[in-house]
Amino acid sequence: MPDRLRRLRKTPQLRSLFRETEVSASDFIYPIFVSETATGIEPIESMPGQSRLPLSMLANKLCEVESAGVPAVLFFGLPAHKDDRASASADSNGIVQQAIRLAKKTCPDLVVMTDVCVCAYTPHGHCGVLKGDQIDNDQSLELLAAMAVSHAQAGADVVAPSSMMDRQVGAIREGLDANGLQTTPIMAYSAKFASAFYGPFREAADSSPSFGDRSSYQHEPGNARHSRLELFADIDEGADILMVKPGLPYLDIVQMARAETDLPIAVYNVSGEYAMVKAAAERGWLDERRTVLEILTSFRRAGADLIITYHALEAAIWLNDN
Ligand code: PBG
Repeated sequence: MPDRLRRLRKTPQLRSLFRETEVSASDFIYPIFVSETATGIEPIESMPGQSRLPLSMLANKLCEVESAGVPAVLFFGLPAHKDDRASASADSNGIVQQAIRLAKKTCPDLVVMTDVCVCAYTPHGHCGVLKGDQIDNDQSLELLAAMAVSHAQAGADVVAPSSMMDRQVGAIREGLDANGLQTTPIMAYSAKFASAFYGPFREAADSSPSFGDRSSYQHEPGNARHSRLELFADIDEGADILMVKPGLPYLDIVQMARAETDLPIAVYNVSGEYAMVKAAAERGWLDERRTVLEILTSFRRAGADLIITYHALEAAIWLNDN
C-alpha cells in the first residue's frame, strides 16, 4: 500500500490531473414551475431564487438555461382549474402543454422533460384518483397515461412519471406506443421516498395532500431492498432512465442503482435539500458555492449520470468560470 498519499495532492495541477469525479453543466436538468394563474414572476419563499412563471416569462428563462449550457428542463404545471379527474392534466391546451410548445418553438435544442403526476391538478392533492379516502391505483393509471401522451403530443422529449402508482411506467409505455409515440423515453421516478424534503416543493406547486400523507405510495425511508424491487419493476415495465429521489439522504440507493443496473441513473436534488443550503448560506453559515459543488460532486461519485437540481443555473455559471 502506498503510504505517502499526499504526493498526488501536492499542487492544484496534480489534484486536477488525478480527480476521479467531474461535474459538468451538461449533466444538469433544471426544474421550472409554469403557472396558468400567475400574472408576473411569483417568487417561491422557501426556495430563494426559484419562481413560478407565467407563460409570458418562460422564454426568457429558457434562454438563460440554454446559454448557461444546461441541456434540459423539467416542467411542473400549476393549472387554473383543479378537479377530481385532474382534467386539466391531459388538456392539449393545458399549461404544461402550452409551455412545451413554446419551448420547442423558442429553444428547439433544449431537452424538454415533464413531470407526470396529478397532485397539482386535484383539489385533494393526492397523486391519483380517490375512491373514498383510498387511492384507486388502476383508475389513476388511465389519467397518467393520458397526461403523458398529451405531453408527448405537444412535443415533450421525455416524460417522467412521479405518482408512484404501481405499473405507472407500463401503462404510460402502452399509452405512448398506442399513439405512435414509440420514440418518447420514460424517466421513471423509481426510487421515490416518502420524504419531508418535498416540503418547499409542495408550497411551490400548491400540491400538498389535504388529508393524510403519501406513505401508501411513496417508499419507506428505511427500505433499500424494497426500492431495489421498484427499480427492477420499472425496468421490466420499460423505463429508459431510473431516478432516485431525494438525493443527499439516499446516496446509498444511487450507488445500488448504479451497481445493479445498466440504465442511466438520474438523481433528484429536491426542494428541501436546496432550501437547507440556501438558508444556511443566507446566514453566512456555509459557503454556498463550495457547498453546492461538493453536493453535486457527491451525486456523480455515487454513480448518477444526470442531476435534477434547482442549483443548475448558478452551478453551471460557477463551473463555466472554474
Ligand atoms: C409530484 C412531485 C413531487 C416532487 C416532484 N414531483 C412532490 C411530491 O411527491 O410530493 C418533489 C420535488 C421536490 O421536492 O423538489 N408528485
